[in-house]
Amino acid sequence: MTKAELTIRTVNTPAVLVDLEIARRNIERFQAYADAQGLAVRPHIKTHKLPAVAEMQLKAGAIGITCQKISEAEAMIAGSPKITDVLLTYNIIGLEKLEHLKALARKVTLSVVADSEAVVEGLSGAFASEPAPLPVLVECNTGADRCGVPTPESAAALAQRIAKAPGLVFGGLMTYPPAGGAAAVQSFMSRTKAFIEAAGLTVPVITSGGTPSMMQAAEAPVTTEYRPGTYVYNDRSLVSRGVCGWEDCALTVLATVVSVPAANRAIIDAGSKALTSDLLGLSGYGHVLGRDDIAIDQLSEEHGRLVSKGPIHLNVGDRLRIVPNHACVVTNMVDTVNILERGEISAVWPVSARGCIV
Ligand SMILES: Cc1ncc(COP(=O)(O)O)c(C=O)c1O
Repeated sequence: MTKAELTIRTVNTPAVLVDLEIARRNIERFQAYADAQGLAVRPHIKTHKLPAVAEMQLKAGAIGITCQKISEAEAMIAGSPKITDVLLTYNIIGLEKLEHLKALARKVTLSVVADSEAVVEGLSGAFASEPAPLPVLVECNTGADRCGVPTPESAAALAQRIAKAPGLVFGGLMTYPPAGGAAAVQSFMSRTKAFIEAAGLTVPVITSGGTPSMMQAAEAPVTTEYRPGTYVYNDRSLVSRGVCGWEDCALTVLATVVSVPAANRAIIDAGSKALTSDLLGLSGYGHVLGRDDIAIDQLSEEHGRLVSKGPIHLNVGDRLRIVPNHACVVTNMVDTVNILERGEISAVWPVSARGCIV
């Protein structure tokens, strides 16, 4: 079957569909907000993993991209000559990774983060003999309790350690706050900035991120840059938080009903290998578009169970579009996504940075 013949009615399921018009609208909406606030945008590509979507984000005005892992950055750069500026928001540890990091730094404008002296020492050892120093940002914990130095004092101390380390320059401050964390970001970052400036250093970048609170980014005016990721596709978790509506969800999983064993129960061919078992605090594994009465209450690897309070009114062979709980993890499950334009499949794109976990 040629691509021209591939339609939502014929494409093999389960299939991931990406509506490019919705994605473009989502990109432009946040870019317009950030432009109005004087904030630089550096989208996290973990959501789409597609060089062509990164190009859309750059064209809209993003200054570069964010990646979590080196292999993600390598795949994105290989996929687009337009990607020339990358921030890796991850502690890079180990000789093999550091070798890859050096190669990456010779190809693009690269910066990384660190939240400990051990990470800084490793980076310095690798970059001391490189032609250009590596910018390193201090990762700060502003309430998410994942990585990050715990206090402004410890952030300022690590900034000075970076500034003195051979092969490195202090690149600024980075945080990934919890939803609703703008006030905590403002307080932590402005205190840290004051300590660092008092010690004679400048703080070139203060970068924060996260889709749930992106429209409140301006409530932390100390930040210079924002890193939204999921905003490009949105998902059920963001609809449930009131951040967007179903019409803003660009990614859906197309599934086929394979069994209707009872009047109020149907089984689809999308299980945890397509929808993933990520609940993100929700009950159920996704939302069937146009069917608020249905819950996806149980998954096995290749089966999804749909239940409704009354008769489910589905037949074997029916096709359903499902908004998953968490879009980013779904794109990691498939080799390709089907691009929708004007409601039909216009292209099939390889998910270049899928499975890039190192
Ligand atoms: C370091 C970092 N920055 C930015 C993001 C983007 O967050 P969101 O997908 O909520 O926009 C993430 C997501 O995991 C992240 O880990």
